[in-house]
Amino acid sequence: MPAERGIAEAAAVLRAGGLVAFPTETVYGLGANALDARAAARIFEAKARPSFDPLITHLADAADLPALVGTLPPPVAALAERFWPGPLTLIVDRPAVIPPIVTSGLDTMAVRVPDEASARALIRSAGVPVAAPSANRFGQLSPTRAEHVVRGLGAAVDVVLDGGPTRCGIESTIVDARGPQAVVLRLGALPVEELIAAIGPVTVRPGSSGQPVAPGTLAAHYAPRTPLRVVGGVVPEPVGGVRRGFLAFRERPAAGYAAVEVLSPAGDLTEAAARLFDALHRLDAAGVTEILAELAPDEGIGRAINDRLGRAAATWSPPPPARAAGR
Ligand code: TXA
Ligand code: MG
Repeated sequence: MPAERGIAEAAAVLRAGGLVAFPTETVYGLGANALDARAAARIFEAKARPSFDPLITHLADAADLPALVGTLPPPVAALAERFWPGPLTLIVDRPAVIPPIVTSGLDTMAVRVPDEASARALIRSAGVPVAAPSANRFGQLSPTRAEHVVRGLGAAVDVVLDGGPTRCGIESTIVDARGPQAVVLRLGALPVEELIAAIGPVTVRPGSSGQPVAPGTLAAHYAPRTPLRVVGGVVPEPVGGVRRGFLAFRERPAAGYAAVEVLSPAGDLTEAAARLFDALHRLDAAGVTEILAELAPDEGIGRAINDRLGRAAATWSPPPPARAAGR
């Protein structure tokens, strides 16, 4: 965990309009003062992020939300109460104090309270809401370690707080619960099953399920530099002369791959999610010409893993029938 002195200094950098990368329980965020349009603009610049892609605002405490946005729709309040701090991002009306650049001009705002003590201490010490996307260049792999941030963003960041590897390893689940039925806008670290248990049926927006509505509508995202292909069913035999990497869910493939990462030999989806981006970062650095990736069982956080693999893939192949997850 980052030292207290580090946090106080980083908070001062945030107040002065600087950029601070910090660990959350999901991935590292690239933070700026959400009340300061110029500071938020620096985030878009550092990430080479298109201005139409809105940021998530982070708060130190769930109790800070009504103070910022006023009375919440009851289902939104219920989800915040149930899952914060935690890997759930909620959609609320954008308050006037948040400059439109933070929400890319939308009159709604995405907001969450991270379940990471040092992140909340940073936000509390800064005394302002903190806008933070994942701390990677746009479209690339999300960072789950401080060194991923340094490698990806380097001098564009004023301070990087090192809290070690992140616990969940995959981004928050984004939910719009303002209407009659909650809509999952992005699958993430909070499994859909847990949402349903808390508030009843939810809609998963097409395109966030890992299965594109139509070929070509799937935005390339969360992608390594090396081409990645999702393989379903039978794992291809390695081809001689081609340096290929393999991302396995549970079992090692046949010998012959130049680099292999197994996400969870025990078949544990939570462990697999925590290791996903780190494994992809390593395969990306292994000097292979192609990465083949196997899907996880399509349940719980496995759905978010498969969503990210689908987006990382240059071409999509349909998922195989789900195998039972070992527990
Ligand atoms: O786990 C996470 O959510 C991490 C950590 C740092 O908190 N953050 C993260 O941020 O993944 P980012 O910027 O990589 O993804 C945020 C996504 C945007 O791409 C956008 O699709 C969605 O949140 N979003 C933001 N504001 C929104 C809004 N008002 N309505 C709908 N979607 C929104
Ligand atoms: Mg991101």
